[in-house]
Amino acid sequence: MIPKRFATRAAALAMAGAAALTSVAALAADPIKIGLVVPMSGPFSYMGRQINAGVSLYMAEHGDTVDGRKVEIVLKDDAGVPANTRRIAEELVVNDKVTVLAGFGLSPQAFATAPVATQAKTPMVVMQAATSSVTEKSPFIVRTSMTLPQVTVGLAEWASKNNVKKVVSMVSDYAPGVDAETAFNTRFTADGGQILAALRMPPNATDFSPYLQRAADAKPDAVFVFVPAGDSAAIFMKQFAERGMDKANIKLLGTGDVVDDDALGQMSDSAIGTISSHHYSAAHPSEMNKKFVAAIEKANKGMRPSFMAVGGYDGMHVIMEGLKATHGAGGEALVDAMKGQQFESPRGPVLIDPKTRDIVQNVYIRKVEKVDGKLYNVEFETKKDVKDPGKTP
Ligand code: PHB
Repeated sequence: MIPKRFATRAAALAMAGAAALTSVAALAADPIKIGLVVPMSGPFSYMGRQINAGVSLYMAEHGDTVDGRKVEIVLKDDAGVPANTRRIAEELVVNDKVTVLAGFGLSPQAFATAPVATQAKTPMVVMQAATSSVTEKSPFIVRTSMTLPQVTVGLAEWASKNNVKKVVSMVSDYAPGVDAETAFNTRFTADGGQILAALRMPPNATDFSPYLQRAADAKPDAVFVFVPAGDSAAIFMKQFAERGMDKANIKLLGTGDVVDDDALGQMSDSAIGTISSHHYSAAHPSEMNKKFVAAIEKANKGMRPSFMAVGGYDGMHVIMEGLKATHGAGGEALVDAMKGQQFESPRGPVLIDPKTRDIVQNVYIRKVEKVDGKLYNVEFETKKDVKDPGKTP
């Protein structure tokens, strides 16, 4: 709860933010707190599980102190409800005096919380939510996940070069889905392709059959899909196969969300052959990634890391390196210390764009294949150093 003596929430946040900035020296012995707000319960709990696994691994590997001060993660469950996310973020700033807000599974949660970061002047590290415009909602937002346009445009290019001429796009009807639809359809038609239908589906749909029927009736060469990773993605994959669309020679193309590593391990062989584009695969063949996958599996009862764990891991990298540079100070100084950071991630080389505070990274085109008896997204083409096209003209 926000204490009653503050007339408005905004005043409380501004006061808390200012206090956090001026008290760095005086409180040098106190821990530096990072509020990690993610869904740990409800239908999106897999997001919190993955992000938290990445955050915890980074801390375990790299130590939890900066200039001798302990860095403490304050983990909070918002159950995937945006109003919760915002209220929890306010409480973390005012009551817990966190130096950084982090996490944010779904775009609506990040949108709801952006004003808190601005009013409190508290850096907000978005480790997952992926609508392009998220970073434009506050100058205190830095993102370590991806944007939908960033991971989509390369797939549209691949499709036109690989004899795909007619597509039906199918997206979840909320901000990241609209981003994916716009990015795919704009690029694909610019390259001469045809969009037969652009279908938008309810965000938490559990039955895609009417949409799949409409797609099949249009007789496209391929379907392009974005659904948020998790339960609905697994259902989509199952129903696509059940309708025999693969056998009707309709290719399945998607952003990596529909075949994310967390769910792919449990999918049936009908997923084999799905072409997707994304910034991370558990099968990324680097030494760093092999160690990362093994360490996440070891610490989390065999859980295979998905792109969400990497978003958390790299988010902690950006925060810890930033805090080292500012000697524990937060606010604008910390955002400045995050801008321009460049490092190797389990996904490959990354950069925090100093202009947009968004991540620049490789995007890989992958195909679902069986490797040692298990399904993986095997990367076969790399688009290097891709900026978010949602912001780059
Ligand atoms: C989002 O809400 O921004 C989001 C959620 C799940 C995804 C990707 C994006 O897989």
